[in-house]
Amino acid sequence: MAGKTMPELHLGLEGIYFAESSICKVDGTKGRLYYRGYSIGELAGYSDFEEVSYLLLHGELPTRSQLIAFRRRMRAERTLPNKIIGIIEEESVRSHPMHVLLTAVAALAAYDKEADVASPRANMEKSIRLISKAGSIVAAIGRLRSGKQYVRPDARLGHAENMLYMMNGTRPSSNAARLLDLMMVLHAEHSSNASTFSTIVTGATLSDLYSAVASGIATLKGPLHGGADERALQMLRDIKRPENTERYIDEALQNKRRVMGFGHRVYKTYDPRARIIRKILLDLSLESGEVKNLAQIALRAEKLMIERLGRSKGIWPNVDFFTGPVYVHIGIIPALFTPMFAASRMPGWCAHMLEYWEHSRLIRPLEYYTGQAGRRYVPLGRR
Ligand code: CMC
Repeated sequence: MAGKTMPELHLGLEGIYFAESSICKVDGTKGRLYYRGYSIGELAGYSDFEEVSYLLLHGELPTRSQLIAFRRRMRAERTLPNKIIGIIEEESVRSHPMHVLLTAVAALAAYDKEADVASPRANMEKSIRLISKAGSIVAAIGRLRSGKQYVRPDARLGHAENMLYMMNGTRPSSNAARLLDLMMVLHAEHSSNASTFSTIVTGATLSDLYSAVASGIATLKGPLHGGADERALQMLRDIKRPENTERYIDEALQNKRRVMGFGHRVYKTYDPRARIIRKILLDLSLESGEVKNLAQIALRAEKLMIERLGRSKGIWPNVDFFTGPVYVHIGIIPALFTPMFAASRMPGWCAHMLEYWEHSRLIRPLEYYTGQAGRRYVPLGRR
């Protein structure tokens, strides 16, 4: 490539703005997060997942009557076609729940007459359907993978409460339902992260919403993104006892292993979502049994990582670090952590797609070619 000037490469698209958005502000320097201008702390304290879904999709908090109507719509959409239940039943035996979720969400398109209708009204309807049914799919995966019978959704229950009901077959305690709902609010949206970008890239080809969010699910699965939560819990379990924490973390850092649940492309300080979950963990560290042990190890690992890498490298806990012990406390198995994340992120993915389609433009970045040129084809017999 002699004679050519090398363009500036933006590896990992770091620092690149590709669109305007009024959905979410991530302030990575101050460690603040806002959905539609409302701070995550206020939403976590006062709102719930259904209301936050409305806020993300519509841009405003609903009035009382709008909220009642939205809850009713969401709850009416919880049922799953029998064929989708069949797919979940069959696939859950041998596949990771993220693969099952991906398959089931993509297959939902077959049961939506408007799957390929691109009007704003149809896309809003599909968003509600997707947010609602993703919760049912994740709950059904949790239930069916252990060989138990499918439990139908209960429209009298809140979104998170119903998910736990469908998973366990019994109504959850109000504490468990509230905790899961809070986790879902914290995971509902996060600007142009990898999975949201991937959703938008697919949608920007004017593909349909089911295909777009399927891209998001596939991207979320990776351990550098949503898949970090399951691995962070595995690490806490591998550490086994609080007194082993220092040795484990130092060994990991010496061997240049990533400590899952730490570091972030945008936050160079404490992730505000992790801060909220940490408070829950402080309570759990006073409980008994495995949750207490996990919470104590997590708090010790957090202190150490901040000492080792926090101030020097800007590597702080992210949302995925403390979630494990909280999910274990609620009774959710590790393989379902990332699917839970996906079901929670569905309103964010859909809101971004609805917004992007208002001024859609195909996304097509460039690669700088460094390969050979002018090569002559050599027939197979002469190679
Ligand atoms: N443990 C140890 N070192 C780390 C970590 C970590 N978790 N994260 C970053 N570093 C180091 C990295 O080795 C590098 O060091 P050096 O400059 O000496 O080579 C430096 O910090 C910069 O890392 P980077 O990979 O260039 O930074 P990035 O912006 O590409 O990485 C990240 C962001 C999230 C991929 C990374 O921090 C990471 O791998 N974290 C662990 C996985 C994780 O927790 N992911 C969840 C992200 S937040 C929730 C979500 O989006 O799902």
